[in-house]
Amino acid sequence: MAGYSDVLVGLQFGDEGKARIIDFLAKYYDIVARFNGGPNAGHTVETEKGRLVLNQIPSAVFNEAALLYIGSGCVLDPKILVGEIDKIKALDISLEGRLHISSQATVIQPSHIMMDSITGKGIGTTGKGIGPAYADRAMRIIGDRLVHLKVGDFIADFESAMQQVIENVLEFNREFIENRETEDIREKFARAFEVIAPYVEQDTLFLHRQVEAGKNVLYEGAQAFMLDVVKGTVPFVTSSHTVAGNAYVGGDLSPRYHRKTIGVAKAIMSRVGNGPFASEFGGRRSEEYCMEDGGKKNNREVEARTYDVDVLLCSPNNFDVGAALRILGNEYGATTGRPRRVGALDLVQLAYAVAMNGVDELYVTKADMLRDFSRSGFQGIPLVDSYVLNGERIDYIPGSSQDYRKVEVEFKVVPGFTQDISGIREQSELPQELTELLRNVEQTCNCKIKGIGVGPRREQFVYMN
Ligand code: GDP
Ligand code: IMO
Ligand code: MG
Repeated sequence: MAGYSDVLVGLQFGDEGKARIIDFLAKYYDIVARFNGGPNAGHTVETEKGRLVLNQIPSAVFNEAALLYIGSGCVLDPKILVGEIDKIKALDISLEGRLHISSQATVIQPSHIMMDSITGKGIGTTGKGIGPAYADRAMRIIGDRLVHLKVGDFIADFESAMQQVIENVLEFNREFIENRETEDIREKFARAFEVIAPYVEQDTLFLHRQVEAGKNVLYEGAQAFMLDVVKGTVPFVTSSHTVAGNAYVGGDLSPRYHRKTIGVAKAIMSRVGNGPFASEFGGRRSEEYCMEDGGKKNNREVEARTYDVDVLLCSPNNFDVGAALRILGNEYGATTGRPRRVGALDLVQLAYAVAMNGVDELYVTKADMLRDFSRSGFQGIPLVDSYVLNGERIDYIPGSSQDYRKVEVEFKVVPGFTQDISGIREQSELPQELTELLRNVEQTCNCKIKGIGVGPRREQFVYMN
């Protein structure tokens, strides 16, 4: 009998804790596969074997029985990939025969990274060349210059693929690029592909054959629904489709095998980079503060040095509360170290994301962090459950970011709890107020919550009946 595939996606603005849920669920699957994004993702897994932040390799590395697949919908930076492979091997985890990289995945070229540093500023991109790489994928060729190069092109004929890479970088900036630098690029690519080559999967029917033979696949979405290139808060989005349906384009399998869709949401939301965020504590002031100098200015060290968390948390000003929650929740980019903007759980947004992705079951992470509100001036847990646009109540995300910026929200405060829940493993032991809140989320989103995170480690998890 053929196997099946499930799709897991982030439902908010990224960093929901997708990786720790993937790590937890991996034991139920034979293969865990990525279908979008690249080194812009920062996926954190914490187990007794160590803590890993993964960028391009699926987050099931610690579950050694699972194969790992990187689909054609991904954009790969060869040098970063080799760094990841080394990091994993240093933990004594084998990737031989486990890691399969689609020969159709797009290669991020130096010209893409250079371009991103110029074009991505207004969005606050991660600077990893993601947008330009996807743009060149769509562009294909400019005149006779091939701008889209796939992993398989480097395996088929490394020298001619490299010639294109060099031409592309020279075309980007002929004046400033010297011979020495092009040689350096060539050498770095050569070294990287030596490591990568054994993992490249030439069989474009690989996943199809696996599933036909009875194997089950879990797709790991990178980024999140609100960062979808079309459905998200355009233009403040990433450049791939993050919506669950794309798993069956970028993930190299037909939708025939789809079984269910899993959504991950965090109990206190965050966003890195610019763009609308209706429930943000401190609104535009927080956005500007967090994104000062591209997010470099007010980083983790600066905030830890500058602020007294207890004072900020009690402040009547929501900007201060947001900063306190960022410090307490360690909300800084896993890859970039930038401060994450922080906001209340937005149920209008979450219900919308559940509907658009067809989510069958939800996981809510960072439930332990909700306790911090009990020390704040809110005297309970703030939520957003209604949007008003131009005087009318709406239950969807407006199609234009201009309109989304105009949406008015109010914080509704529900009863909170003071208990440290990080050691709880049974649903029956959770504070009544939290159980009520989770029930409210289920009803509003019309979706079952399967489990909650009560801390970052694998075992800090509570199943919900
Ligand atoms: P991803 O991009 O969705 O995989 O998430 P990231 O790894 O970028 O960010 C999630 C952060 O939250 C990481 O630092 C995790 O260790 C942490 N985390 C995940 N789940 C929980 C949880 O339930 N409680 C707490 N306190 N931290 C969590
Ligand atoms: P994970 O998978 C949070 C954001 C960037 C920027 C915008 C575009 O860890 O959840 P890009 O470099 O993709 O062109 O940047 O998208 N962004 C993320 N934010 N988590 C991520 O990934 C993100 N990947 C990209 O901050 O605003
Ligand atoms: Mg992340």
